[in-house]
Amino acid sequence: RIAGPCSLVIFGVTGDLSKKKLLPAVYDLANRGLLPAGFALVGFGRRQWSDEEFARFVEQNVREHCRTPFNERTFRQLHDGMRFVVGTFDDPEAFTRLSDTVSELDRVRGTRGNHAFYMSVPPRDFPLVSRQLAACGLARSSEGAWRRVIIEKPFGHDLKSAQELDRVVSEVFEPQSVFRIDHYLGKETVQNLLALRFANTMFEPVWNANYVSHVQITMAEDIGIGGRAGYYDGIGAARDVIQNHLLQLMALTAMEEPVSFAAGDLTAEKTKVLSAVRLPDDFAAHTARGQYAAGWQGAEKVIGYLEEQGIDPASTTETYAAIRLDVDTRRWAGVPFYLRTGKRLGKRVTEIAVVFKRAPHLPFETTATRELGANAVVIRVQPDEGVTMRFGAKVPGTAMEVRDVSMDFSYGRSFTESSPEAYERLILDVLLGDPPLFPTTEEVDLSWRILDPIEEYWSTLGQPQPYRAGTWGPAEADEMLARDGHHWRMP
Ligand code: BG6
Repeated sequence: RIAGPCSLVIFGVTGDLSKKKLLPAVYDLANRGLLPAGFALVGFGRRQWSDEEFARFVEQNVREHCRTPFNERTFRQLHDGMRFVVGTFDDPEAFTRLSDTVSELDRVRGTRGNHAFYMSVPPRDFPLVSRQLAACGLARSSEGAWRRVIIEKPFGHDLKSAQELDRVVSEVFEPQSVFRIDHYLGKETVQNLLALRFANTMFEPVWNANYVSHVQITMAEDIGIGGRAGYYDGIGAARDVIQNHLLQLMALTAMEEPVSFAAGDLTAEKTKVLSAVRLPDDFAAHTARGQYAAGWQGAEKVIGYLEEQGIDPASTTETYAAIRLDVDTRRWAGVPFYLRTGKRLGKRVTEIAVVFKRAPHLPFETTATRELGANAVVIRVQPDEGVTMRFGAKVPGTAMEVRDVSMDFSYGRSFTESSPEAYERLILDVLLGDPPLFPTTEEVDLSWRILDPIEEYWSTLGQPQPYRAGTWGPAEADEMLARDGHHWRMP
């Protein structure tokens, strides 16, 4: 799977995402030999940079953010295809220069009119950039050459704005040329969910309401909002990651076996799950919000959300969110799916825990099973990628005592192959025109339909419950599970 001749144009190339993820991903793809010799990388931005200055910027970020050691030869090869176009989004002449630049690349690098445009910009700029691309004739495929657009989340901040955004984008680009990024789908461990469930026989028979008690999907981060106040305040944890990453994880965990892994078949199954989601009837009892207060993260003293630079000191934005959802299908009837995410929590960990019902009868003395929890299959998305099975085993000794133990599969120990970064995989898929790992408009709309009523309810409440940085979130979230007779796992 090597991409054909093409160029990648990045809008917002000097932003955080580009520096930390996109530029390193392009370099890593080149390093793995997955980009064609004539590949071209074009930055578009306000800085008065020459191509050479842009190349130095790329090099600096690749050196800083890539996991692999810097390889001069790879960089040289990329370097010759780097261009920088100076301009602002509202300047038609800048887009004419962009058009001239990609035409020049077609001639000198052999990119053959194949161009992908990465919108690493705030959603309010999508319409303007899209229209400018249309006006200078770059938006539509022509004469055997393709044009593709990559849209970074957030896709709106509710159903209405997402649909409006979609309308604008679809006026300009052909539907099959729009790729919406949810970088969680590019993660190796997330794709492994499909292998785990559908390449094996031992999980699927018990992957249902007969055996599963509940499912916990956790995305915990130890970082605060850092320099992202402008984006985050007013958006909050649920819109930032539940609407996209966590609902996608839930859909993959709950869906039926797809006919194939082609985009249409995969999305058909995910869509069914998202359509079958039932919201709790009592939001107060089955959702929770929190906001981090000052605290300690390991040895580091950290400030609270309201003290962060750029945050409104009266902000009611949540940095922690937990919700219970049900999936009204035969497979999942009565099995709650708990989704939680937060910043400044105990540690960085994303996992999906499928927690099983207790054995219907235990032929042991009651004291023998004191330390026996529920069986669980835990998909460790990151870090320490792998899968854990939790079950009971006899404690060695003369008495019959049973205690929880773990059996682990770990990527590091089982494979010598290294996992590509999510963005690496997704950028390659765009260049190849391979859509299965990109959510469709329908999935995005369904996700907003799930979140909108909860957000509406939350907007009527005041301040989210504070939680000390470095802890596992607000007490409200623990009470929410306790009400159902469960408790959160401590990953
Ligand atoms: C992004 C969110 O989508 O995912 C960020 O906007 C979050 O707030 C990030 O920090 C986490 O990504 P990862 O891959 O580090 O889990």
